[in-house]
Amino acid sequence: MKSALNVDQIKSEFPIFNRLVRGENRLIYLDSAATSQKPLSVLDAERDFYTKHNAAAHRGAHQLAEEATELFEGARAKVATFLNASSENEIIFTKSATESINLVAYSIGNAKPGSKFHLKAGDRIVVSEMEHHANLIPWQELAARTGAELSWFGVTDDGRLDLSNLDSLINEKTKMVALTHQSNVLGTINDFNGDLVKLRAQIKAVGALFLIDACQSVPHLKVDVQELGCDFLTFSGHKAVGPTGVGVLWGRSELLDEMPPFLTGGSMIENVTMQSATYLPAPKRFEAGVPNMAQAVGLGAALDYLDKVSLTAIHEHEVALTKQALDGLKSIRGLSIVGPTDVKNRGAVISFTVEGVHPHDLGQALDQYGIAVRTGHHCAWPLMRRFKVVATTRASFYLYNDQSDVVALVEGVDRARKYFMER
Ligand code: ALA
Repeated sequence: MKSALNVDQIKSEFPIFNRLVRGENRLIYLDSAATSQKPLSVLDAERDFYTKHNAAAHRGAHQLAEEATELFEGARAKVATFLNASSENEIIFTKSATESINLVAYSIGNAKPGSKFHLKAGDRIVVSEMEHHANLIPWQELAARTGAELSWFGVTDDGRLDLSNLDSLINEKTKMVALTHQSNVLGTINDFNGDLVKLRAQIKAVGALFLIDACQSVPHLKVDVQELGCDFLTFSGHKAVGPTGVGVLWGRSELLDEMPPFLTGGSMIENVTMQSATYLPAPKRFEAGVPNMAQAVGLGAALDYLDKVSLTAIHEHEVALTKQALDGLKSIRGLSIVGPTDVKNRGAVISFTVEGVHPHDLGQALDQYGIAVRTGHHCAWPLMRRFKVVATTRASFYLYNDQSDVVALVEGVDRARKYFMER
């Protein structure tokens, strides 16, 4: 099978693959859903910022401040183009996707009666059982603060959103809907332009706000906010070959400019007296304090890198690896996949359990062969309960993985299973 990508070339651009792990093992990194590795171009962009241009963006009258501002705003323009936003002003830099979601939740919570964002008893917030805690707990807290009710879509046995109660969940009471684009546990892609188009239309018809957590999709497939038809979308830099410490919130300008601020302080104000302040429009309205400039610049370089390789090719490559891995893993005795067992609307994340072997033991055994996977509840306790498991082992693939990595995973899991079960 010919890959859509030149993985050897790609790997050579990620310095971490030069090292060995656990003795003389090559690194088989299958934990990109937790965080991705970084190409040299991203590391260089951050370092260049600090070594050549470091100053506080949007503050200062000197050359360095001007250069820092240009680089920081240049990164914003890259993110806007990458997501097909209508304007750069729709891109807010945060420290993480978690902060982005909290920003929206706290901003809504700060809205006063009379504001179209104000939530009260009788209103409803809707999430799903497949959300990461980061797209669940902020809404639980918002519901508790405002008196609104929190409701959710369940998940079917094959790991898809259960829409059987669509009409009772999404109606005139519903003010906010927050759903993941791709589950970090199941790999399920919620195709809001395909299978779930009716859900999307209903959210729009009742006038609810729609936020998409795209942490697991933006790094892996082409995401276009216009096509998705949502109001807010979030992702983090570090899962998209970019630095840690930078996340993105995209929102429609007409909403962002009216929403109350979340964090307040320097550079987000129009006018300040000793008693009160007025606020600038987005993005500055939501970027109080000296921003994470080097990280934003690093994220810009990361998106350039993904563009150069091509997200279409990355997705195609990952679908092939996922198919190979699903086929291989399914042949192992006692192994159950938690999530869809075919590649339709499915990303390159595979969670599984092996009868009689605790996921943590399996993870440690794989680590001895140089294979890095994640084990645990993956910040999705309700989903673990739904599938009656305490934890899973999770392998996730990215552009620097190849078929030999999948072979190593399948052989490693089988070897570990035999070690634990047939001793
Ligand atoms: N959210 C990340 C994961 O799923 C950390 O592993």
